[in-house]
Amino acid sequence: MREQLEALQQEALARLQEAGSVAELEQVRVNILGKKGSLTQLLRGLASVSAEERPLLGELANTLKNAFNEALQRRMLVLQEEDLAQRLAAERLDVTLPGRTPPLGGIHPVSRALDEIVRIFSQMGFPSAMGPEVEDDWHNFEALNIPADHPAREMHDTFYLPPGAKGEKRLLRTHTSTVQIHVMENRKPPLRVIAPGKVFRCDSDLTHTPMFHQVEGFLVDEGVHFGQLKGILQRFLRLFFERDLPVRFRPSFFPFTEPSAETDMGCLFCDGLGCRVCKGTGWIEVLGCGLIHPAVLDNVGIDRERYSGFAFGMGVERLAMLKYGIQDLRLFFENDVRFLRQHARL
Ligand code: DAH
Repeated sequence: MREQLEALQQEALARLQEAGSVAELEQVRVNILGKKGSLTQLLRGLASVSAEERPLLGELANTLKNAFNEALQRRMLVLQEEDLAQRLAAERLDVTLPGRTPPLGGIHPVSRALDEIVRIFSQMGFPSAMGPEVEDDWHNFEALNIPADHPAREMHDTFYLPPGAKGEKRLLRTHTSTVQIHVMENRKPPLRVIAPGKVFRCDSDLTHTPMFHQVEGFLVDEGVHFGQLKGILQRFLRLFFERDLPVRFRPSFFPFTEPSAETDMGCLFCDGLGCRVCKGTGWIEVLGCGLIHPAVLDNVGIDRERYSGFAFGMGVERLAMLKYGIQDLRLFFENDVRFLRQHARL
């Protein structure tokens, strides 16, 4: 028994040294001291040795156990330290490296232009109003003095929707002039409003997309005249393009204004000398405007004798193309990230 105990001590200590990890060390401990461990089993054998031998052997066994436990603790500390050193090396982090910037979104150039237009008009006292994108015939055409057989309807290649619950015609608005009607039906003059939003036309080529953005603006009060309209638009164009360009008003026709005009601005790209963009004329058409037709005021129950008004409408993509020097309308909607990165701002 004594030899067995001594042999076990040798072996146990040797195994502790061999253990290469905390887990292996635990296995060695179980093999020696566990329920079925070799020392535990040897100790069971104590019952069968003689009474004289037992105390000596018992003491020897205890010494062995203590020595083993101590050696185990020491080995454990060494292995834990090695473990930590290994993890520190493996998980090493160079805090001096530059950080990784997560990709950031930006404001789309159309939204930027839209925000800028809204901001400038709001400074001139025009708050924004919204209207529905799905409209009826009255707000998109009839009330704006565009009757069913009017040739102007053909210019608006309309998307029609299935009729509404009461059989009424429904369509996607072809312009934001509809918001004039909504506002004038629901509020009393004096009125001063701009209406930014999406419009839809069944048209798609180099210079047309089926959806685009417009900003409509109008003012109704007593004694409103064309001079005020000219002043407002001139001021707007100078602030928007950040250039002191000449502005001219050319007679035109819209059913909902009388008189009507197209507003042209001196070409940004050649300073009026004539280039490819302005087709050699030195002028660029930027928006439509006029004095609100008295028939429109009649349609919304505003007294045409007492009140008059002006209105204007502009295409946001067109203004954005001019301002940011973008040549192709389709770029706005293709979402090529190279284009977006070039023109987006935070
Ligand atoms: N609604 C017109 C269009 O979509 C734009 C327009 C022109 C609006 C003249 C106006 C205006 O208010 O006076 O083509």
